[in-house]
Amino acid sequence: MWRGIIHAYRPFLQVASVEPITLYEGHTPLIPAPRLAQAIGLAAALYLKYEGLNPTGSFKDRGMTAALTQAVAEGARAVLCASTGNTAASAAAYAARAGLRAFVLVPAGKVALGKLAGAMAYGATVLAVEGNFDVALELVRRAVTEYPVTLVNSLNPYRLEGQQTAAFEVCDQLGRTPDWLAIPVGNAGNITAYWKGFRAYYQAGRVNGLPKLLGVQAEGAAPLVYGRPFEKPETIATAIRIGRPARGAEARQAVQESGGMFLAVSDEEILHAWRLLATLEGIFVEPASAASIAGLRRAVAERRIKVSADQTVVAVLTGHGLKDPDIALRTLPAPTRVKPDWDAFRAVLERAMET
Ligand code: F0G
Repeated sequence: MWRGIIHAYRPFLQVASVEPITLYEGHTPLIPAPRLAQAIGLAAALYLKYEGLNPTGSFKDRGMTAALTQAVAEGARAVLCASTGNTAASAAAYAARAGLRAFVLVPAGKVALGKLAGAMAYGATVLAVEGNFDVALELVRRAVTEYPVTLVNSLNPYRLEGQQTAAFEVCDQLGRTPDWLAIPVGNAGNITAYWKGFRAYYQAGRVNGLPKLLGVQAEGAAPLVYGRPFEKPETIATAIRIGRPARGAEARQAVQESGGMFLAVSDEEILHAWRLLATLEGIFVEPASAASIAGLRRAVAERRIKVSADQTVVAVLTGHGLKDPDIALRTLPAPTRVKPDWDAFRAVLERAMET
């Protein structure tokens, strides 16, 4: 029986050897996506690591099981984070599981509905700052120097310990390392964690090589692409609406070591990729997750990555589409209203079938 990432990968993880605080996260599917690969002109085999299927709907749960396990082992009473939403929901759930209080600080008006609802439902104290994620992170970093609360942003090293297990799973599922890994980048903790994981597996002799990393940012929030902070980050992908990534330096090093690259994609490209994922493969993700596909599509179109049919590309789908239902409702045609009788329904159905 699967009992979460700490049980599964304990020898690889620097985390207190106590009974884990877990919701049995991880073990997410690696789904082949041939129709999507064809649509974006990718010759290689494309697989999607569907992290939206974690207990709170995002990859953050891998990091949070480790962070909360360690926090409890160290006698913590409360946790605190800044978040664009997913970290908040995950921290809230794992704190609930551990019997700790959670305080989360999110950018007011810029958090997707499902994330806010989750954080509130799990019983966190949700605070909304009149500013962006970068401001929120600055505030919580100061708060943990003055109050007895544990920071559970990805600055917390145990977050990366846990999140690297996604790289282990990708290797275990493929039976080898992928040639490329495409991943959305916001605060840059996750790409850093994947690289740590791939390297650890390589050094342990579990795989024979390392992937190249394709780190994808939104055009309006692309500090790692342009090499400068974004004071007013803006993108429809609110999860990665971040102008000063806390793990930026490590992410840059990881991408460089891997021989990969960062690139930026527009909100239109993100929405296009988001639609392709749902309509060609039946996989509904939040916009930030679609950035990895948008980035791949652009990298292929601009011939910046060259892959052949015998190679393998993995794209990380970081969060579930139900996190951000507004996007679908705002960007797609509303359902056609139907009067409750046969003739009316038949007329509407026939019209629909003709289009
Ligand atoms: N995708 C999703 C769905 C996210 O929620 C995040 C980050 C990322 C990608 C980027 O990961 O920050 O490690 O580079 N969300 C954080 C949060 C910032 O607060 O939930 P990253």
